[in-house]
Amino acid sequence: MVCSTAAALVLVAALALVAASPGRALNLDTTGADDVPEIVTETDPKYQIPKSFLLGAGTASYQTEGAWNKDGKGENVFDYLYHKRNYPTNKTGDIACNSYERYEEDIKLAAQMKLDVYRFSIAWTRIFPNGDIAEKNEKGVQHYHNVIKTIKANNMKPMVTIYQFDHPQALETKFGGWLSEQMVEAYVDFADFVFSEYGSEIEHWVTINEANLHCTLVYNGLFPPGTRDANHTVADIYKCIHHEILAHATAYRLYEQKYKKEQGGLLGFGSVSYLARPNSSEWDDIIASDRTNMFDVGLLLHPLIYGDYPAVVKETLKLAHGDEPFLPEFTEEQKQTLPGAIDFVAVNAYLATIVADRRKEDPNRGGGGRGPGMIPMKGVWTDANVTTVVQDTSNIYAEVNTRVPTMHCKKKIEGDFTLKRDTTRRSFTAPGQIHFSTPPMGV
Ligand SMILES: *[C@@H]1O[C@H](CO)[C@@H](O)[C@H](O)[C@H]1NC(C)=O
Ligand SMILES: *[C@@H]1O[C@H](CO)[C@@H](O)[C@H](O)[C@H]1NC(C)=O
Ligand SMILES: *[C@@H]1O[C@H](CO)[C@@H](O)[C@H](O)[C@H]1NC(C)=O
Ligand SMILES: *[C@@H]1O[C@H](CO)[C@@H](O)[C@H](O)[C@H]1NC(C)=O
Repeated sequence: MVCSTAAALVLVAALALVAASPGRALNLDTTGADDVPEIVTETDPKYQIPKSFLLGAGTASYQTEGAWNKDGKGENVFDYLYHKRNYPTNKTGDIACNSYERYEEDIKLAAQMKLDVYRFSIAWTRIFPNGDIAEKNEKGVQHYHNVIKTIKANNMKPMVTIYQFDHPQALETKFGGWLSEQMVEAYVDFADFVFSEYGSEIEHWVTINEANLHCTLVYNGLFPPGTRDANHTVADIYKCIHHEILAHATAYRLYEQKYKKEQGGLLGFGSVSYLARPNSSEWDDIIASDRTNMFDVGLLLHPLIYGDYPAVVKETLKLAHGDEPFLPEFTEEQKQTLPGAIDFVAVNAYLATIVADRRKEDPNRGGGGRGPGMIPMKGVWTDANVTTVVQDTSNIYAEVNTRVPTMHCKKKIEGDFTLKRDTTRRSFTAPGQIHFSTPPMGV
């Protein structure tokens, strides 16, 4: 089951670029009493896919690159833990799809699928093997120039994820990674270098991929550097998310001040969404679905629009955990600088869910406590106190996911796998098969 979550990280992800100016496109406020969410139908013309929508696919460095110690790459948190556990090579990213050496083939496959965007993440340890910005690895730096050039030569836009989970183990050893505020500074230094080096070629950046999912998986012991026997607390999850929000926002302000005028790029913050809808038209369920979305995407975006976490999250956590300081607080200064620190919203949507208020449930039934995620994990989603009634997989994701076992890194496309826009509906169609880079991220 973890596999499907892991697989979700790199597979075809339609990226919706939504303008996020404060108080306009997004209404994340949950307090408006009569503000019943609008129910839309699949074919509502108001919600057709616009022509400017960019259709793309994304890869993550650890899941695709392999070549874990080639050309001066350092050890990241995955390398460290999986080697320590003596996992067989095919359960690690040591070789993966060898995209480090075969990136040209992979990029050509993406072009064959008629994608507009090719998103990839940068392996921090290829550039700064020990996490120290004084020790730069030129071969690693050059690699991503080659990748960007190849994407453009294939008529796609390169979209860069600056960080997707594979930070240097050295930073973990030094100060505990994302549990420490020092990680904010380390990330911003890394991002600063990435902007200065590649920025003239890049229009769209995702600073951090799926911060909500990342921190939840790590501190449930499912992703390195977390381990189950370390007994991480739920507070660790929120602390990690807090630092990733600050890392994003600090990098955003740095870009704005130092690079934006010249480079004109747009920065987004990636989240996973389980797109909750209510199980019934009862008020409790409507609020429960809104609460789910607030604990999910709202947790990341609300601070970047309004300067603080959603009130409903703070209140629910207080109810659930008392006055224990579960959710770190932003300083007054941060509350001033966070709003507007985002140019677009990047939502990875693999699943939609229908939820009900858990409090309506018979507590003896034992069905409660399960968040909309696929695994009963502690923290974020379970804290929302909802029950998942239906979990609905998006058609593209279902298509790709069912084929994962047979298409592992085969690097060829069979049949006609061209993503087609169905502009009359809110969807895409994907006939044929896809044999594209897939992840070996086992836990
Ligand atoms: C991984 O390798 C082991 C042997 O080392 C083999 O038994 C197993 O089937 C392989 N798994 C996959 C998914 O290829
Ligand atoms: C985690 O908790 C278990 C069970 O309470 C305990 O045996 C173990 O020593 C703890 N591990 C750490 C690293 O504290
Ligand atoms: C969550 O639901 C349980 C019943 O399942 C209830 O006892 C508890 O008070 C609820 N917590 C919050 C924060 O609403
Ligand atoms: C969801 O809705 C169905 C149909 O109205 C109902 O039978 C079911 O009990 C609801 N589930 C929950 C958990 O409220």
